[in-house]
Amino acid sequence: MFSEGLKGIIAAQTMISHIDGKEGVLIYRGYEIGELSHLSFEEAAFLLWYGHLPTVEDAVEIKKKLGTYRFLTPVMRDILHSLPQGMDMMSVLRTVISSEGGTEYKWKPTIEQSMRLTAVIPTIIAYRFNMMMDKPLIVPDTQLNHVENYLYMLTGNNPSKTVADALETYMVLTLEHGMNASAFSARVTASTESDLVSAITAAIGTMKGPLHGGAPSGVIDLLNEIGMAEKAESVIRRKLLKGEKLMGFGHRVYKTHDPRAIALRKKLLENMGDDHSLDLALYVEKKAIELLAEIKPGRSLYTNVEFYAAAIMKSMHLPSDLFTPTFTASRIVGWTAHVMEQAENNTIYRPQSEYIGKRNC
Ligand code: COA
Repeated sequence: MFSEGLKGIIAAQTMISHIDGKEGVLIYRGYEIGELSHLSFEEAAFLLWYGHLPTVEDAVEIKKKLGTYRFLTPVMRDILHSLPQGMDMMSVLRTVISSEGGTEYKWKPTIEQSMRLTAVIPTIIAYRFNMMMDKPLIVPDTQLNHVENYLYMLTGNNPSKTVADALETYMVLTLEHGMNASAFSARVTASTESDLVSAITAAIGTMKGPLHGGAPSGVIDLLNEIGMAEKAESVIRRKLLKGEKLMGFGHRVYKTHDPRAIALRKKLLENMGDDHSLDLALYVEKKAIELLAEIKPGRSLYTNVEFYAAAIMKSMHLPSDLFTPTFTASRIVGWTAHVMEQAENNTIYRPQSEYIGKRNC
């Protein structure tokens, strides 16, 4: 049977996460995502890697380990300095990560290897970012947690609790999302009994494509174009009547509210209630849903996670070209969990193709 883009095909059984697009439910290891948004990045990563929530001691231990694994190797530093100036950050990540490891990454993949790759990604992003901006290169601070340290390395300052909390919630909510293109490509690479570094390199390359990792910069453009609440209705109406898609709305799987958008909005409201850009985002969301229902009736179009991700990035003044790399810094947890699950019960992926070319025989 041929299914274009493998749509509707179940390619693996998994115990990592479950998505119910009709009901708007996302589950990590048995827990609904809304119940997990209070977890730290480290605790949520622990849940995905080990399959259960950490004890207090586990949480301390994983925070310590991720802290010690943050440092670049001399080879990574050399590569970061030799890559072409104009290279985009996803290509930088893909190249630098692939320099990691030798024999210690041989089959089978481990949680320890997963921690190292997860811990070093923010350091690569921040180092390269500062290099490009001619800013001082900042050494990781092992006392800070994973997300605080990422923000510290990007800015040189300890982040406020509000900002760190908002980014942490976003990262926890986007750690994992079933058999998306990048998780699938990581599993395919691992299924040949290749190493974890190769699987993650493949996943980063897959994430780089605009059909997968790239929508939020479009949301930032939309919010910038609207600028003030008074202009929301006219800008959105004009775009929809011209047949344009509104970035941050609609989803291939969710045909109702994206549960990650709901959890993120709740967290933002708790933490940043009086923030101007959040107020604008809330107003734009309300107007967009009303106008989508009027102009595109029956299509079930609601806010997706990228909308609030962009609102967070905007309020934090993070440049939009750091968006997909930041998404990568969270999604690597899901990829590594998938690779380890694949290795536990491995069968090489080998679908078939249907020949529709000429036959001269
Ligand atoms: N704005 C306006 N109309 C939209 C829309 C949007 N964001 N998303 C879907 N639609 C409309 C389409 O124009 C189409 O209308 P039609 O029936 O008149 O042709 C209908 O809804 C179905 O669209 P389709 O592209 O087939 O839906 P899909 O489920 O395959 O696509 C997305 C899902 C995510 C690709 C799509 O909603 C989109 O491009 N959204 C904007 C980009 C975005 O936010 N991406 C991040 C996703 S996490």
